[in-house]
Amino acid sequence: MFGHKTSFYAVDVAKRGVKETMKQAFGAWPDNLTFLCKPGQDVCENEIETPVDILFVDAEHTFDTTMAILNRWEPWVAKRGTIIMDDVQYFQVKQAWWQINHPKAVVQCGIGGIGIIEIG
Ligand SMILES: C[S@@+](CC[C@H](N)C(=O)[O-])C[C@H]1O[C@@H](n2cnc3c(N)ncnc32)[C@H](O)[C@@H]1O
Repeated sequence: MFGHKTSFYAVDVAKRGVKETMKQAFGAWPDNLTFLCKPGQDVCENEIETPVDILFVDAEHTFDTTMAILNRWEPWVAKRGTIIMDDVQYFQVKQAWWQINHPKAVVQCGIGGIGIIEIG
């Protein structure tokens, strides 16, 4: 897809939660996905392979946590890489969504939609 082995991460404090959302968003648990079971804002660069092509995150739905996760991961995402975020039309996540200055789109899915951000 990106001309090399895709660096694809999902981060969630619980595998059960992200599994359900992954199925909703992608129809399945992708084979090439690396799952990090911890708060997205606490991941360190030495735990992952950069640059990251795709990050999937479905977090705590507060403004501060959403912004903390986006700010932490953005420098690690490849040029033309993507952050996919669940529930971007949901309460405080929506406020964080408005702050993002990259090209972005919402796919209507579930209650809060799936947001796709292209890091350019
Ligand atoms: C409200 S649930 C998502 C519900 C799901 N999107 C749905 O529509 O049914 C929030 C998810 O965020 C995860 N989560 C909470 N805090 C997080 C954090 N700081 N980093 C990553 N994931 C987190 C939870 O484990 C859970 O899977």
